[in-house]
Amino acid sequence: MKKPALVVLAILGVVASLAAQGAPPRAAAPTPAELAAQAAAAERGRVIFKENCSACHAEDATGGRGPDLIRSSLVRHDKGGDLIGVVVTGGRPDKGMPPFPMTQSQISDIVAFLNAQISLFDLHTRYGPYPNDIPAERLATGTVEAGKAYFNGPGKCNTCHSPTGDLAGVAKKYNPPDLEVRFLYPSGTPATAIVTLPSGKTFEGTLLLNDDFNVAIMGKDGWYHSWPTSAVKIEVHDPLAVHAELLQKYTNADMHNLFTYLETLK
Ligand code: HEC
Ligand code: HEC
Repeated sequence: MKKPALVVLAILGVVASLAAQGAPPRAAAPTPAELAAQAAAAERGRVIFKENCSACHAEDATGGRGPDLIRSSLVRHDKGGDLIGVVVTGGRPDKGMPPFPMTQSQISDIVAFLNAQISLFDLHTRYGPYPNDIPAERLATGTVEAGKAYFNGPGKCNTCHSPTGDLAGVAKKYNPPDLEVRFLYPSGTPATAIVTLPSGKTFEGTLLLNDDFNVAIMGKDGWYHSWPTSAVKIEVHDPLAVHAELLQKYTNADMHNLFTYLETLK
């Protein structure tokens, strides 16, 4: 069962939540409808690319006779097809790329496909090797025992989760690519902070902003508060910080084993 569209959707979601994991406030994630539209465009683009471009740039756009388009700075600087469109319609006949008389909508589908490939690539270079194939049906390649051992051992997952408690049925709740995304990049539990003023007065609430200049919270009192960062003491509590650290620790084998184990929690 191959479902690239779903995976692209998942990957776009990952990228959205990764962006959101920087400094709070977490950026508004794209709506499901927007993600679905992007994924559909990327899927159409995949087909067009395969038919017209893959002979030279490879099906996954990592290059062959033609250059790698994932690492191409031209592709990365493209805005809505402005640079890629010129190369496609004009070609580079003297360098070995023929022109393609394509419509604007075909070009924007190709751009959507290339962006999805770039997201996938960046994700995996940050956290592991780049898969030449989208791993949907390859996700559960570990062993259940090893996953369980990691869950209760080095991963310390059992200090916050239980397979018969909060994670019971988690594999029923999400389809496989979504489960992978959820356990690697859970989201939805906001960070909170306690801010102490020089006077000793404290405010507690949901952390909205915390950079070099300003800290802002939505207070438990229902009010928005902000201060210059240098003027106050800030104690942040981010329930998802452990998950961010885990991403740095997992080996590929750990991820596959964990996923294979989580898949059994139906
Ligand atoms: C016959 C081989 C061939 C085909 C087919 C082909 N290309 Fe190319 N493409 C090349 C070559 C060779 C270059 C490098 C040209 C150069 O050195 O300036 C290139 C360059 C590019 C670049 C510029 C990359 C950069 O960093 O400068 C883009 C974007 C691109 N191709 C997209 C496409 C798309 C999209 C398609 C399909 C619609 C396609 N190509 C089809 C051979 C091909
Ligand atoms: C310090 C506590 C902590 C640890 C340790 C931890 N997690 Fe989590 N995990 C969380 C929190 C908080 C959430 C977000 C819950 C939410 O918002 O639904 C979460 C979410 C998840 C989810 C998504 C659940 C859902 O229903 O969407 C999965 C799956 C998960 N964690 C798996 C793991 C695994 C596997 C490990 C170990 C490798 C682990 N967690 C370690 C705190 C932790």
